[in-house]
Amino acid sequence: MEKKLIHIFEQQFKTTPTHIFKAPGRVNLIGDHTDYNNGFVLPMAINRYIWLALKPRNDQEINVYSKNFDAFASFDTHKPEDAACRGGSRTARGGDNAWIEYIKGVAWAIQDAYPDKKLSGFDAVIYGNIATGASLSSSAALELVFAKAFTELANIKISAADIAKLAQKAENEWVGMNCGIMDQLVIAAAKEDDALLIDCQDLTTTNITLPHDAAIVIMDTNTRRGLVDSAYNERRQQCEEAAKLLGVDSLREVTDEIWESKQHLLSYEILRRASHVFQENLLVLDTIEAFKNNDLHASGEYMKRSHKSLQQNFEVSTKALDTIVEAACNSVGCFGARMTGGGFGGCAVALVKDMYADDFIAQVSEQYEHDTEIKPNIYLVKAVHGTYNLH
Ligand code: GLA
Repeated sequence: MEKKLIHIFEQQFKTTPTHIFKAPGRVNLIGDHTDYNNGFVLPMAINRYIWLALKPRNDQEINVYSKNFDAFASFDTHKPEDAACRGGSRTARGGDNAWIEYIKGVAWAIQDAYPDKKLSGFDAVIYGNIATGASLSSSAALELVFAKAFTELANIKISAADIAKLAQKAENEWVGMNCGIMDQLVIAAAKEDDALLIDCQDLTTTNITLPHDAAIVIMDTNTRRGLVDSAYNERRQQCEEAAKLLGVDSLREVTDEIWESKQHLLSYEILRRASHVFQENLLVLDTIEAFKNNDLHASGEYMKRSHKSLQQNFEVSTKALDTIVEAACNSVGCFGARMTGGGFGGCAVALVKDMYADDFIAQVSEQYEHDTEIKPNIYLVKAVHGTYNLH
């Protein structure tokens, strides 16, 4: 891959790159729509990446060629754009060259946090094999690979948690997507072979060993939906409303007593949103316990419960996601499956006995295509190092 990248760079810029960085995508095993409620999540970084080859320039220009989009975009690190446009105005995710906004946002967030360090320019090529808009966090990977480049070139020493916060700030305030911290933090901090438990209250992370003889399978429905950001932001507001009505700062703080004594204050819709978050946090902790005991059956059951709650209470699943999850749960070697990430299309994830992985993939592919007439993309992944943990 690196050779290919260097070759593309040489074609574009007629010189050789001096640095190569990469950032992985992620899949979330359990704990969705809990991060922005200060709850628990259990994602892992996966062996799908965005690579960045670059050569510093003597000015402040950033020139980026995206091989995937076959598009070129530039900006000045000192004026990534008129600051007055910040916040909520750049959600043109599907628009031409929308990808450059993530990079500008990261430059802006880092420059804002380190006003004494002047970010210098570079020529760059990016290429990735993380499916986009598929809930595998290609945007967060893009943010992190540039965050790594900007900070390293400017000699800024920064922790994985702090760089994740700056990347999240770029996405919240520059791009206008009100995401939580999960994607950025796991992509920054993950460790090879492990999933990462993140306590989103204080950002502490714990490496969680995956059960041996378990295979993690990504099941891409090959459906994508627009307007995801607005539906996502709406769910987030509903959770905040629920917390307010229950008299807590975040849904993380809801105890059994609060839940029993105050849930009557919530409307039916808000009650279902809050109930999802409350249960999902417990399911993350239960899954970790099951992983520790190498109890794949129990872990799989928790994944199924989580999917049901995302479908019925949080209402972020789709027909395609439900169909692929059902096909998975009925296929050979499967302990459990669920949609992963924000929802509204994209991918689901399955926990499968490793010796059956190939048969499982063949069965789910056939069943899903039979039911939907859409060809899915189903593949095994492994847990890899995050960007700030690469040697
Ligand atoms: C998206 C967001 C994350 C998280 C998930 C849902 O991936 O970027 O912060 O909220 O959705 O769990």
